[in-house]
Amino acid sequence: MEIIIAKNKEDFDRIAADIVSQQIKDKPDSVLGLATGSTPLGLYAQLVERNKKGEIDFSKVKTFNLDEYKGLAKTHPQSYYYFMFKNLFGKVNIQPENINIPNGEVEDAEKECEEYEKKIKEAGGIDLQVLGIGHNGHIGFNEPGTPFDSITSLIDLDKRTIEANSRFFDSIDQVPRQALSMGIKTIMQARKIILMISGKDKAEIAQKAINGPITTDVPASVLQLHPFVTVVLDEEAASLL
Ligand code: F6R
Repeated sequence: MEIIIAKNKEDFDRIAADIVSQQIKDKPDSVLGLATGSTPLGLYAQLVERNKKGEIDFSKVKTFNLDEYKGLAKTHPQSYYYFMFKNLFGKVNIQPENINIPNGEVEDAEKECEEYEKKIKEAGGIDLQVLGIGHNGHIGFNEPGTPFDSITSLIDLDKRTIEANSRFFDSIDQVPRQALSMGIKTIMQARKIILMISGKDKAEIAQKAINGPITTDVPASVLQLHPFVTVVLDEEAASLL
């Protein structure tokens, strides 16, 4: 694992944006794996700006998002579909047919997951996967206890995840209880991974994920087994390393 500790928020976003931009410059038809959440917001803002300036071109880039809530309409402001269009896809020159997000609105979520996994393979696999981390160590929505050989599937969200995500909803009852998520094996098959961790509240889990035992109790600890992972942390998140 390569560990990079950013000096400040600006530096944190810039380092991540440099890695993603370089990937797109090296391989214009890159397949990117993308995350939602607060952590990559600054990264996406940087990518939008660089695209506007003509520094990076999304016209041949393909994307696969990690996950989506089950049962939220695409138009729901808390759906990951909505998030991605608001923060990235609606602002760069990506082709709509190259965007892939698990469809949380389908009846048969299991079938949707199977097809999603197949689509990733057909696209040639993910070149660079962007990840955040949950307080319980989840990556995507792979909660503690998820087997390391899991593929894209329908997941029951952990109590802590429902609580953490309730800040975006009017009440905790409105937070979906299930999500469609790439599996741990799906994530590990990406050729390169960038794990972004920011904030004091993530310091403990960052320490466990990076230096702790490799265990399904801390899903992100599996990344220690991947040959090309860059972990970008801010100083607060790195404070217990
Ligand atoms: C989002 C995702 C999640 C988040 C994690 C951290 O697509 O897969 O694993 O990366 O919950 O979320 P934030 O960045 O909001 O702390």
